[in-house]
Amino acid sequence: MRGILLWCATNPWLAAHVPTWSFARRAVKRFMPGEDFDSALKAAQESKPKGIGALFTQLGENITDLAEAAEVVQHFEMVLAKAAAAGVDPVVSVKPTHLGLDLDPKVTLANLQRLAGAAEKAKGWLWVDMEGSAYTEATLELYEAVRKNHEHVGIAIQAYLYRTARDIGRLMPIQPTIRLVKGAYAEPLEKAFPAKRDVDANYLALSTFMLPEVQRGKLRLVLGTHDLPMISRITQFARAIEIDRSQVEVNMLYGIQSEALAKLAAEGHTTRQLIAYGPAWYGWYLRRLAERPANVLFVARQMFG
Ligand code: FDA
Repeated sequence: MRGILLWCATNPWLAAHVPTWSFARRAVKRFMPGEDFDSALKAAQESKPKGIGALFTQLGENITDLAEAAEVVQHFEMVLAKAAAAGVDPVVSVKPTHLGLDLDPKVTLANLQRLAGAAEKAKGWLWVDMEGSAYTEATLELYEAVRKNHEHVGIAIQAYLYRTARDIGRLMPIQPTIRLVKGAYAEPLEKAFPAKRDVDANYLALSTFMLPEVQRGKLRLVLGTHDLPMISRITQFARAIEIDRSQVEVNMLYGIQSEALAKLAAEGHTTRQLIAYGPAWYGWYLRRLAERPANVLFVARQMFG
């Protein structure tokens, strides 16, 4: 089922047609408060009293025209300024192929540098999402280049890839900020652990390797997961080595495990929900369905009213 859904995520015909179907538009609302930034901002303001911070992402990937990338940069600059003015964390997350990585890596780097500058000016943060493994190396190189000039910039790293332990070691000298996720794309056997239990084991191993570095102030680590037993094991280890709860940050996606996230916030962890918005939700939404095929039943319920 996961494979079929991830195949559907990259199918151009489905990408063009599914977003026009009303039941699909109804179903996507579970993970997305609305298609415009104002809906995302409103959702962030509603979560703030629960101690949950925000992380905004305008959906989009694999653009085919650099003019579009320029518009994406302007949009995120607006988001950073508007969120800061509204008293909400000016934190954004962006995919390199949304900034032009398929077309021109140099322009993509310039776009990221500009956004990192805007995030710093707003006293916020810029996150670089990690896409499929065809982009891993280029994304790491972009991150290394941006990190040279900017401190408030982080990168997502995927526990399902065999290469990830080595990549973390490679990033350590630049004192990175890392969001550890399990990984959401269809990957070949020779690049990624096919079995979920191995991905989970690697997630645990990578976090326990990184936590002592967090304690030494050499790394900022964010757990990007909804896996509550995993979060509990990692936070237990963090406590055992005397890392303050506020330094173990947990980020989740809007609409998933919200109550558990509020509980973690109440316990003193830094928490954040990633609020996605925008009309280009198709591929992103299909990856959410693939993460939990039971979600397809929810879509079916929307279909049959
Ligand atoms: P796991 O799949 O084990 O799920 C744990 C539990 O969470 C499940 O049992 C279920 O109850 C619940 N759950 C998980 N996904 C759900 C869903 N879609 N709907 C309903 N319930 C669900 N990936 C990537 O490749 N690059 C990236 O840049 C990012 N960025 C990112 C940011 C943030 C803040 C998060 C939370 C996630 C990402 N991801 C990502 C996605 C990530 O790689 C992964 O696919 C999902 O988080 C699902 O895996 P879990 O870690 O939640 O564990």
